[in-house]
Amino acid sequence: MPRALVTGGAGFLGSHLCDRLLADGWAVIAFDSLITGRRENLRDAERDPLFSFVEHDVTLELPDPGPLDWVLHFASPASPPDYFDHPIETLRVGALGTMRALDLARERDAGFLLASTSEVYGDPAVHPQAETYWGNVNPVGPRSVYDESKRYAEALTMAYMRTYGLRTKIVRIFNTFGPRMRKNDGRAVPNFIFQALNGRPLTVHGDGSQTRSLCYVDDLIEGFRRFLDVDQAGPMNCRPTGRSSESPHGTDRPGRPAMLTGSVQASDRYIATGSAIRAPKRNATVGDVGATRASTPEPKTSSKSRLMSVRTFWAFT
Ligand SMILES: NC(=O)c1ccc[n+]([C@@H]2O[C@H](COP(=O)([O-])OP(=O)(O)OC[C@H]3O[C@@H](n4cnc5c(N)ncnc54)[C@H](O)[C@@H]3O)[C@@H](O)[C@H]2O)c1
Repeated sequence: MPRALVTGGAGFLGSHLCDRLLADGWAVIAFDSLITGRRENLRDAERDPLFSFVEHDVTLELPDPGPLDWVLHFASPASPPDYFDHPIETLRVGALGTMRALDLARERDAGFLLASTSEVYGDPAVHPQAETYWGNVNPVGPRSVYDESKRYAEALTMAYMRTYGLRTKIVRIFNTFGPRMRKNDGRAVPNFIFQALNGRPLTVHGDGSQTRSLCYVDDLIEGFRRFLDVDQAGPMNCRPTGRSSESPHGTDRPGRPAMLTGSVQASDRYIATGSAIRAPKRNATVGDVGATRASTPEPKTSSKSRLMSVRTFWAFT
């Protein structure tokens, strides 16, 4: 039975990953300082005897987690309000936390996966961003604490791979949404849903022409699982895919990212009116799926029911 450490396991993505690994029969230990995560995210996981949780800041010396097959490093503030509130902690976990997690993987002869981000591309000058694009990051802007911390974490991961032959993987995650996102998370999708449910106007920054690749959490986790099973190190963009006819580069490129205020090309455009959220008449033709080069899963749920799942989750929390 494989055994994994998930750092940041009490967070939005980390907790879904713990649930999925446990469902697959893995043993899982989670380390989390709870700086932005919540213990209740682990309510399901904690019912499983193969799961254990340690409240711990991974920038400090790590407790002994026992034997490991994988270290899955998800610890980091991730939403803009969180990393604006915790700039030093964000840099510390990207640097010190990543180094400790890598050292642990090396010591235990385990594989290592880094949860990186599309923010490594910064304010991209190239659309869509392929993994070969090096990005356009302002190293001294307010967002640099997150962008540069993840860029450093990626560099460190590659250095451990090249220097020590460590089995490493880097996934660059794009905007993911789903149950367990906090209402005050600060990212576009929860903001829109929260404002719509409260009958408020939706806040769109800038002129609304900016785009996002939106990914539903189950599809992202499926992408991680498949990535763990293939012999590839990445970096791997993990985001919605387009059908091959729309993507000259194959199935791992986004077909149509969603525009925030909508255009006829938007694949996942939602119109929020008062407390109702409904899909536009022109339905999405592109599935939001977690992407790996090895295989591209079909989405399990419709786009509308994905948004409704967040709404339903909030109704009961
Ligand atoms: N959600 C997304 O759309 C998205 C997009 C890109 C990248 N990511 C990456 O995925 C990972 C998880 O993001 P999320 O959305 O679940 O965020 P989250 O804030 O819900 O989860 C992060 C978790 O890490 C924990 N943590 C932070 N610093 C820590 C430390 N020093 N020691 C131990 N635990 C610590 C937090 O308490 C929290 O539980 C992050 O690394 C983030 O950068 C997420």
